[in-house]
Amino acid sequence: KRKIRIYELAKMLNIDNKDLLQIIQDLGVEAKSHMSSIDTDVAQIIEETLREEKESKLGKRSEEVATTLDTLEISEGSTVEDVANRLGKPATTLVKELISAGFMVPANAVINEDIAKTINKVLGVNIKIVPASAETKDEPRVRTVEPKKHEKPKKLLPRPPIVTVMGHVDHGKTTLLDYIRKTNVTAREFGGITQHIGASVVEHNGKKIVFLDTPGHEAFTSMRARGAQVTDIVVLIVAADDGVMPQTIEALNHAKAANTPIIVAINKIDKPSAKPDRVKQQLADLGLIPEEWGGDTIMVEISAKTGLNVDQLLEMILLVAEMNELVADYEATPQGVVIEAELDKGKGPVANVIVQQGTLRRGDILLFETTWGRVRAMMDHLGRNVDEVTPSLPAKILGLEDVPQAGERFIKVDDERAAREAVEQYMEKKRQQEMQAVKRTSLEELFEQM
Ligand code: GTP
Ligand code: MG
Repeated sequence: KRKIRIYELAKMLNIDNKDLLQIIQDLGVEAKSHMSSIDTDVAQIIEETLREEKESKLGKRSEEVATTLDTLEISEGSTVEDVANRLGKPATTLVKELISAGFMVPANAVINEDIAKTINKVLGVNIKIVPASAETKDEPRVRTVEPKKHEKPKKLLPRPPIVTVMGHVDHGKTTLLDYIRKTNVTAREFGGITQHIGASVVEHNGKKIVFLDTPGHEAFTSMRARGAQVTDIVVLIVAADDGVMPQTIEALNHAKAANTPIIVAINKIDKPSAKPDRVKQQLADLGLIPEEWGGDTIMVEISAKTGLNVDQLLEMILLVAEMNELVADYEATPQGVVIEAELDKGKGPVANVIVQQGTLRRGDILLFETTWGRVRAMMDHLGRNVDEVTPSLPAKILGLEDVPQAGERFIKVDDERAAREAVEQYMEKKRQQEMQAVKRTSLEELFEQM
């Protein structure tokens, strides 16, 4: 029997994943999430029902629109989302309609003349922006904040997913990353020698994926402890001959706590002793139900050694990335996080970072938590000198005053003095906190002894 995933159907029908899931569940068909699969004949029934419903609704709707929405009055400072609400459609739908008309704006963008014109072009609705003081009567609204009329609409664009591979000792993390890197096209095409920058960038079907290289748990926990959420997707690797082990559970808990989507790679299936079904059962007992059993956890049986199904794993990573709509503002003030750093004898402090927002450029002055610096040089994962680095991508940067710690965040600032002063203030505050902590513990000790 042929099957189709719910989000695929939602895409085809151009409706929201959640709405479709609800419809399917209402029909009494078992489905846990939009990642679940349903039979194609069920899909067909849904499609037909929806089409009929849409046609009858559309008829009514367009009459209404013609009478009441020829001109839509909105108050100054209203956002795209507000307009979508007034039009009775999800904000994401309106955003998509605007994007398909060549106009990229996020849902929280304040409506200006340009956006109003585009909405008119796409939907035939005249938008009239009325000053905040003259709100329309049918839509009384109290605004406590100033309308953000001067705010520049953000340019949100897709960014590559950042992936951390986690799993028990010897379950194959390094072998998998090595295999992915070795067979990767970019590295070969540019004749580059992979540089260690704490993360690798690979390309699959023309799309980039960033893998954090540092041992999964360490990077993940140290960054999370500092409040830096870097990983978009966790690949939980479980050896099929060994099964779920303590560090598998630990990794799973980390991912759950951070609310990071998990893809399971059941590894070493080339081994005669491999028991992939046993692994699935063990994981199901922990709440990760494989899709084929009606759950929503993607599980791929791979061999990191022979490369079997590794392609499929990469595909699934890109799919989950797409589902989660990973985007970044490429024009925002550059900021990111340190994955690792060290003092190089010749080069001075060297930091391997990942850019999270904005585009980092050579010459930028960066403020970290414990240090600052002007970016003197940047290298990509192939050791090439680069002038700019876009969101999700890693880089090695030179020119810092001191060595920052892994997990420290950075942001571009305008002048060196401000950076220097901010670092001094931060260090002073930290010193005080440490002193207080020392005081507190000694007091506690004192109480305990009494
Ligand atoms: P730690 O970094 O020590 O936690 O281990 P790891 O998870 O990085 O495992 P690693 O990649 O070092 O693999 C451990 C052993 O398993 C090595 O001897 C690998 O050759 C072997 N191995 C990894 N993947 C496979 C596989 O798919 N099939 C087989 N047969 N062996 C594998
Ligand atoms: Mg390893």
